[in-house]
Amino acid sequence: MPTPMSTYPRIAALKTHDAFTARLLELGLDLPCDADVASGPDSPLADGIEVDGLTVGNRFCILPMEGWDGTTDGKPTDLTHRRWKNFGISGAKWMWGGEAVAVRHDGRANPNQLLINEDNLSSIADLRQTLLDAHAERFDTTDDLLVGLQLTHSGRFARPNRKDQPEPRAAQRNPALDRRLGIKDDSGLITDDELATLVDDFIRASVMAEKIGFQFVDVKHCHGYLGHELLSGVDRSGKYGGSFENRTRFLRDIVQGVRSATRNMKIGVRVSVFDFLPYVPGDDRIGVPDADGDPRLAFGGDENGLGIDLSQPGQFMELLQSLGIEMVCTTCGSPYYNPHIQRPAYFPPSDGYQPPEDPLVGVTRQIQATAALKRMHPSMTLVGSGYTYLQDWLPGVAQAVVRQGMVDSVGLGRMVLSYPELPDDVLTGQAWQRKKVCRTFSDCTTAPRNGMVSGCYPLDRFYKDRPERDQLKQIKQASAES
Ligand SMILES: Cc1cc2nc3c(=O)[nH]c(=O)nc-3n(C[C@H](O)[C@H](O)[C@H](O)COP(=O)(O)O)c2cc1C
Ligand code: SF4
Repeated sequence: MPTPMSTYPRIAALKTHDAFTARLLELGLDLPCDADVASGPDSPLADGIEVDGLTVGNRFCILPMEGWDGTTDGKPTDLTHRRWKNFGISGAKWMWGGEAVAVRHDGRANPNQLLINEDNLSSIADLRQTLLDAHAERFDTTDDLLVGLQLTHSGRFARPNRKDQPEPRAAQRNPALDRRLGIKDDSGLITDDELATLVDDFIRASVMAEKIGFQFVDVKHCHGYLGHELLSGVDRSGKYGGSFENRTRFLRDIVQGVRSATRNMKIGVRVSVFDFLPYVPGDDRIGVPDADGDPRLAFGGDENGLGIDLSQPGQFMELLQSLGIEMVCTTCGSPYYNPHIQRPAYFPPSDGYQPPEDPLVGVTRQIQATAALKRMHPSMTLVGSGYTYLQDWLPGVAQAVVRQGMVDSVGLGRMVLSYPELPDDVLTGQAWQRKKVCRTFSDCTTAPRNGMVSGCYPLDRFYKDRPERDQLKQIKQASAES
C-alpha cells in the first residue's frame, strides 16, 4: 500500500504572517511569531548572553548533529570537518557540543561515531580548530563564541561494531523497546560496576576536552541514550535506579569528578525534558502509541505517556542548579521511538510512521515546555530545540520567544544542514534564501538508518552530487510502495 502523504498544510504554502498565525489559531496553538524581524547589533537576536562566566555573542545556538562519518576508530573525516566548518560560518555564537562523541567504544551509536581517547585527541582538537578558524575568518573574532563538546554513551541504542547490529547496554527493561532491539533477558543490562567505571570515562573525557580548548562538556541526558534512560530507571534496582536520588547519581558523580579533575571545565546538560510512549505505524502508517509502551518509563511524561508532566524535570532542573550547572539545552523524546515529538517533520524517515499530528503541534510543545521550565528557573540559561519545522517562520518565532524571555537561545538543528548561514542572514538583514530552507524531508535521518553518511541530500549541492543520493531515492521509493 502506498504511503499516504501528510494532509496537513505545508509551511511553504503559508505565505504570509497572517496565514501562518491563522493556522496556529486553527490548531489552538499558543506560539508567538513576530511579523517583522529586526537585524543589526541592537536587535533582540543579536543581544549577547553571559553564562557561567562565559560570553555568548548572540541568541543562536547550533545543536549537536552527528554525521555517521567518522573513521571506524573514531576520528573525524573531511565530511565531519565540512560540517563543523559550516557550523563556524553560520554566525551562531553558541555551539552546543558539535555532535555526540562517545566516551568509550561500547557506547558508540554507530561504528562511525566520534570517540574521544588519547589516540584521537589531536584530530578532535583539529576539528574544533576548523570551526574556530572558519568563524574567525568570517566574523573576525571568536572572543564571544562558546564551543562545547557533547559526551555520550548510547546505552540501549549502542551499535559500536556494525551498523546493522544493536549491542544494547540498557539501563533497565522496557518491553516496547526491548522487542525492537532483541533484548530477551537481563543479560545485556549495564551493571552498577560498569556505570561506576563509565563515570570515570566521562571524567577522563572531560579532562581531555578541556586540554584541547573546549569550554564546556555536555553530559548528554537525552533521546533515549544511557543518561536519559537512567532518569526513567524506576524499575532498576541498586544505587542507580528507583528513587530520584539514585536515578540522578550517575550525573552527580560525573559532575563531582569533573569539578575535581579539571581546572575549570564548565558543564552543561542536554536533557529530554519530557518523553512520550514509543510509537509504531498504525492504519495508513500513521503513528500510534505502542501497545506495549509503559508510561512510567517516560521521564517527564504524564500518566498516559501521551502528555507532559514537568514535576520531575523541574526537580531535575533544581538539581542542576544546586550542582552549579547553568547551561541546559532542552529537547524531548527520542528519534528512535517517537521522532514526531523530537524532530517534527512533514516527511518522516523512511523506516518511521506518518505524523499523527500537525508537526506545528510538536514544535509548540517543545517551545512551551522550555518556556515553562524557564519560568520556574529564570536564572538558568536555556537553549531550546525543535524549531526547524517552522521553516520560513523560524526567524519570527525565534525573535518572539527570545523577546518574551521564553528561552535564552534558539537552537538550530536540521536547518543549518541545509541553510548554514541562516543565523548570519537574519542578524545582518540579508535576503532570505528560500531555496535553502529545510523542508523536513528527513533524508539526513533516513540515510544513516540505511548505513549511509548523513547530510542534506535534497538541498545541499555537495550531498546532492554524492552517489548515496540515488540509493536513498530507491530506498524511499521502495518504502513508499511497501
Ligand atoms: C542528522 C541528525 C543528527 C543528530 N545528532 C544529534 C547528536 O549527535 N546529539 C544530539 O543531542 N542530538 C542530535 N540530533 C538532534 C538535533 O540536535 C535536534 O534536537 C533535532 O534535530 C531537532 O531540532 P531541529 O528541529 O532544529 O532539527 C540530531 C539530529 C539530526 C537531524
Ligand atoms: S535532509 Fe535536508 S531538507 Fe531534509 S530534513 Fe535534513 S536538513 Fe532538512
